[in-house]
Amino acid sequence: MAKRVLIRGAQVVLPDGIALTNVLLQDDKILAVDAGWDQSCQEIVEATGHYLLPGVIDDQVHFREPGAEHKEDLESGSRACAAGGVTTFLEMPNTSPPAVDHERLAWKYLRAAKVSRVNYGFYIGATDSNLDALRAATQLKGVEPQGKSICVPGIKIFIGSSTGDLLVDSQGALEEIFSSTQLPICAHCEDESTVRANRAMVGENPTIQDHSRIRDTRAATVATSRAVDLALRHKHRFHVLHASAEDELSLIRAGKPFVTAEACPHHFLFSIDDYARLGTLCQMNPALKSRQDAVAIWNALVDGTIQLIATDHAPHTIQEKQLTYPASPSGIPAVENCLPLMLNRANQGLCTLEQIAGWMSDAPARVWGLVGKGRIEAGYDADLVLVDMGLKRTVDNNVQFTRCGWSPWAGEVLQGWPIRTWVGGQTVFCQNQLLESVRGRAVLCDHSRGGYWSLTSGVGLR
Ligand code: DOR
Repeated sequence: MAKRVLIRGAQVVLPDGIALTNVLLQDDKILAVDAGWDQSCQEIVEATGHYLLPGVIDDQVHFREPGAEHKEDLESGSRACAAGGVTTFLEMPNTSPPAVDHERLAWKYLRAAKVSRVNYGFYIGATDSNLDALRAATQLKGVEPQGKSICVPGIKIFIGSSTGDLLVDSQGALEEIFSSTQLPICAHCEDESTVRANRAMVGENPTIQDHSRIRDTRAATVATSRAVDLALRHKHRFHVLHASAEDELSLIRAGKPFVTAEACPHHFLFSIDDYARLGTLCQMNPALKSRQDAVAIWNALVDGTIQLIATDHAPHTIQEKQLTYPASPSGIPAVENCLPLMLNRANQGLCTLEQIAGWMSDAPARVWGLVGKGRIEAGYDADLVLVDMGLKRTVDNNVQFTRCGWSPWAGEVLQGWPIRTWVGGQTVFCQNQLLESVRGRAVLCDHSRGGYWSLTSGVGLR
């Protein structure tokens, strides 16, 4: 018999505004909004006084499995997701070995089916020599329990190197990838030769402040400009990962409708001024820029130049992070704190819950063609998060679910926290506890919908 759950009396963040209403779930789907109780409901969740949002979709996380499970793995990363209201993650390929072919991707999908508490998808990484694998990733066979094939969300290119050894920066290889593949492409945009030249200029014994001189605005704009040019010439959908500099924004705007972009919370909440306080704990790639850049990135979210928020959750242990620069690795964990950080901003009057649902759920679902995801609407997947906008809590390293066990926001008091998360209609997090038996599913990607701008030109899946 179908299982029905009624979530009663929440302020529900719907695609067209917030309404005080009930949401009825049936098995893994939303059956109806504005439904009343009837005897077929096996469970009623009283949600009066709280807000119900679509589950967060984080389109950029690094969960380190295989290869660096001491920092994080698919299980621990997905538990952190559930606690943070993230019901779907898309994971990057810079694991060890990297996910650059069918075999390694299939391994990740099968592993996630076993251990992931939330829904998942995995990008295929580009190399100088894996064009065939990039083309074939539209139909990854044998990874669904039912033997169906899966289309991966997209292709990831490291146009500049970061953690791991993935790098494609030769023009010839980039032209081939943009001209002869069908999946949407996303890229880490920091120009490799600019970074190398800056590193040489900074000289020996660089300090953490030098990180932002090495990976400067020019490194970001040269690479973003190059990638946007490729997208426009080849009419290929392209997503700029973690935009960090004000000067990238005009490039992103010029790329419409082929180009979309995202911002990470650290690039609008932190700036180079934070090195004095946090040191290598706020070392990441792309590197932090000026306060003016941080303000510009936030304003670009508000004005729609940037469509979505992702975390670039990149866990390293605190011992690794405390090494002296440049031995310290780049990256910070954020997947379980991103939603509270944004809810806190909503409480400060800096944005609305509708904007948060747009940036963190609807937009990533549209960019990556995630079927049934991103909205509270009848027929959509029952991936939901209930938040208490009055709850104040201090970010505490001792209560992080991520294996790396620390947060650059530790000590900050945030108001607005997730109190319950549903994945496919099942409660996976409630009263600060994880329900360990819940498992997510592989996302289904339908790229024929044309992405965020509903692009109908172009060929094939593009
Ligand atoms: O700072 C970063 N760390 N940026 C990236 O793009 C990769 C990430 C990681 O995997 O550690």
